[in-house]
Amino acid sequence: MLKISNLNVSFGGVQALNLNEFHLNEKELRVIIGPNGAGKSTLMDVLCGKTKPAGGTATFKGENLIGKSEIEIVRMGVGRKFQKPSVFEGLSVFDNLMLGMKGRKDFLSAMFYKMTAEQREKIMATARRVNLHKEVNALAGALSHGQKQWLEIAIVLLQDPELMLIDEPAAGMSDAEAARTAELLCELSKENGVIVIEHDMHFVEQIAQDKVTVLVSGEILTEGSFEEVKNNLQVIDCYLGRQQAA
Ligand SMILES: Nc1ncnc2c1ncn2[C@@H]1O[C@H](COP(=O)(O)OP(=O)(O)OP(=O)(O)O)[C@@H](O)[C@H]1O
Ligand SMILES: [Mg+2]
Repeated sequence: MLKISNLNVSFGGVQALNLNEFHLNEKELRVIIGPNGAGKSTLMDVLCGKTKPAGGTATFKGENLIGKSEIEIVRMGVGRKFQKPSVFEGLSVFDNLMLGMKGRKDFLSAMFYKMTAEQREKIMATARRVNLHKEVNALAGALSHGQKQWLEIAIVLLQDPELMLIDEPAAGMSDAEAARTAELLCELSKENGVIVIEHDMHFVEQIAQDKVTVLVSGEILTEGSFEEVKNNLQVIDCYLGRQQAA
């Protein structure tokens, strides 16, 4: 469903991404790992239209995403959860979800929008999927860090994406929350393509069903199963070894 060729991003002359080739199949769950500054989030920025690359193509279901606006890309079916949670803390979980469904850029009209029973049910069903059904009336600011991440995933889900880009979902989560998140991501990938960026190898092990891609200095170092990647000497040298030392 996604094919990337020769994707190139530089910031002030420094190359952040130089991706020759990357393929994602329908309903594949791909994990991308790699050291800080490897270009992982930059890749997602390009795919969601936030960053314009210097060159290259990213074809989603036959159409190039490059050059499209963020809104066009969401409409095409690509949803993205950012690395840092950015929910409206002073609003309830329900209202955050409602805004997510309507598009958060159109804040005022969304707040005064009269929802149909069907839309209300869709919000409740999505809240149940991410384990937040008991918290719908709570303020988003009162949620734990993990619950905020779930809320963000729910907001992405409400846009009915076919491809979900999820940046560091388990960061700051308790073990129990991370395990629930792993289950949720595996469930999502039964229906959607999912690309997950993650540092925590214990978490990666729980979700890696297909390939794991290792990104280093903007380039793919290797791709393979979790076991292959974990035991790859270059990966240990460039990334995993340093992680253990830190
Ligand atoms: N908007 C920007 N302006 C300038 N430089 C940037 C920008 N975004 C990213 N960079 C640089 O591009 C490189 C890749 O950064 P990126 O955030 O993609 O890394 P990452 O793999 O997501 O790292 P982390 O694991 O720490 O989140 C880094 O050197 C970073 O400093
Ligand atoms: Mg990042």
